[in-house]
Amino acid sequence: MSRQLAEWLQASNYSVVMTGAGMSTDSGLPDFRSSSGLWSNYDPKQLATVEALEHQNDAFTKFYQWRLQSLLDASPNKGHKILAQWEQQGLLKQVITQNVDGFHQAAGQQHVSDLHGSLREINCHICGRQASQEDFLNGSSHCPNCGGKLRPGIVLFGEMLPEQAIQQAQEATAACDLFIVLGSSLQVAPASLFPMEAKESGARLVIVNQEETELDSWADLTFPGASIQNVLTETNRYL
Ligand code: APR
Repeated sequence: MSRQLAEWLQASNYSVVMTGAGMSTDSGLPDFRSSSGLWSNYDPKQLATVEALEHQNDAFTKFYQWRLQSLLDASPNKGHKILAQWEQQGLLKQVITQNVDGFHQAAGQQHVSDLHGSLREINCHICGRQASQEDFLNGSSHCPNCGGKLRPGIVLFGEMLPEQAIQQAQEATAACDLFIVLGSSLQVAPASLFPMEAKESGARLVIVNQEETELDSWADLTFPGASIQNVLTETNRYL
């Protein structure tokens, strides 16, 4: 199966990879919906919302301080590095990611659409002014400029996604002839809509995910139960 993926990559004029939290579990960061995922221990509605930011600010801030520190203590894994190498070799045009860890860019990927923003950026919820990670981590949770609450630059449930990232992702999805999903349960729109849009515009669809997704039956190739790093390493051998 990895040989087939390598052949499709070599034959492709415009390949796109879309990643989810499963891309960073090998870096030691939890995903959200697998049995050991974040949402099995925390209720996203109690934490990952503007409501939580405004009315449960202590719990909100502690949760994102912990996630930011975990991310700063971790690093991109071999899978991130292989994708950056494929971009350099002209095999991969665009990465669309739902992840907020910045590991694709840290691994050298140039063309990345961060659909859900970045946990590395801290800003004021009211005036938008940037604040430092240190300020956020050491608990100064108010903006020096306007007194508003500090928050990570990620998309909270119910918030709009960054326009430019969405547009980039839509253009890449429409233009691609190969769309590869890595480590996503495909349960959160609009990201979960892109694989079918690619398929409907004639692209081949490949899904690499440890657990089954609702789109597996539409995919041209799936790697059930496989680990992303193993699939990317195996595929790399044929390139
Ligand atoms: N190899 C392959 N698959 C993996 C690996 C791995 N090493 N590690 C985890 N997975 C799979 C899990 O089985 C799971 O199905 O990755 C998938 C991750 O799915 P989710 O946890 O739902 O994460 P994701 O799809 O990125 O969630 C989308 O939901 O909560 C929001 O904003 C959050 O961006 C996130 C969005």
